[in-house]
Amino acid sequence: MNATDHVSVSAADLRARLARLDRDAYDLETCERYASIVEEILELKRERRAVILAHNYQRPEIFEVADFTGDSLELARRAREVEDAEVIVFCGVHFMAETAKVLNPERTVLLPDMKAGCSLADSVTAEALAERKQELKAIYPDLRVVSYVNTTADVKALSDACCTSANAVKVVDAIDSENILFVPDRNLANYVQSKTRKRIISWDGNCYVHHQINPEEIMRVRDSLPGIQVLAHPECRRDVLALADAVLSTSAMVQYAKRSDADKFLIVTECGLSDRLLMEVPDKRFFKTCKLCRFMKMITLEGTLDSLRNLRHQITLDDSVREGAKRALERMLELSA
Ligand code: 13P
Ligand code: SF4
Repeated sequence: MNATDHVSVSAADLRARLARLDRDAYDLETCERYASIVEEILELKRERRAVILAHNYQRPEIFEVADFTGDSLELARRAREVEDAEVIVFCGVHFMAETAKVLNPERTVLLPDMKAGCSLADSVTAEALAERKQELKAIYPDLRVVSYVNTTADVKALSDACCTSANAVKVVDAIDSENILFVPDRNLANYVQSKTRKRIISWDGNCYVHHQINPEEIMRVRDSLPGIQVLAHPECRRDVLALADAVLSTSAMVQYAKRSDADKFLIVTECGLSDRLLMEVPDKRFFKTCKLCRFMKMITLEGTLDSLRNLRHQITLDDSVREGAKRALERMLELSA
């Protein structure tokens, strides 16, 4: 999805697109306010030579100003291809903006709200990882650390490679070791273990959004809507994944829904993805286990305007951390190419 820089947006157009998702939230008054903010953001993007990268869980009005919307892997790839840009505004959470900065040290990278963190990224520190790595190396001398991209840059810097939900199995299979310390998501680690013959040693972290989804919710929907396809994110618990027709990253869910012959889907991940699906696949029906990520939702259109106008809040990184994290991210891109 690409925003068209030079077109001004009318409130009526905006309402026609967004009210389909939620009539009350996108009433005419709100859409008038959003239309003027969208215009101002598009203008400032030109002036500042800025691009806006947005994660799939963002609010639908953010998609209106984004140059690119995608999952973590696509966003990391896109962050390497912003040739003409001087500024990157990241509409997502802190680790994603940090990844963009790691790959673009010479550019200004902005996160509209510095409180937009991630429960997974918070579940492992560089100190704890260094300690565990040392303990395990004594037992498995060939140990490699694969860290989910949902980690801080200093954790990435201690890792041999990163991975995302889209390429975790591929990275683990391709890395040169039989013993992998996989941090920090235990659910994703369990999923990877079910797909590889290598030994996966997991960390005790989870995403509070996905971890709260339970199998009973899925079964209730399945029983009441026969033929529904269940698409689940690998950050969900093992007992939830066991009920899924497909386990996919957020963007892979969009591609799957577009290609599938099925006409109804239960989307087992954060709610924002259903908004993108409803906008992009209007002829099919999407049901959701409505869980919001409070961190993703901290990013607003007003905050994005303020960020671009005042060039805040800037992501900064220590050179040695940045270089270490870059090595792990590039190794991921190489192993999963
Ligand atoms: P994706 O890479 O699948 O978009 O997932 C990112 C994320 O934070 C999921 O909670
Ligand atoms: Fe982090 Fe979970 Fe939010 Fe994704 S949904 S950003 S993993 S807290």
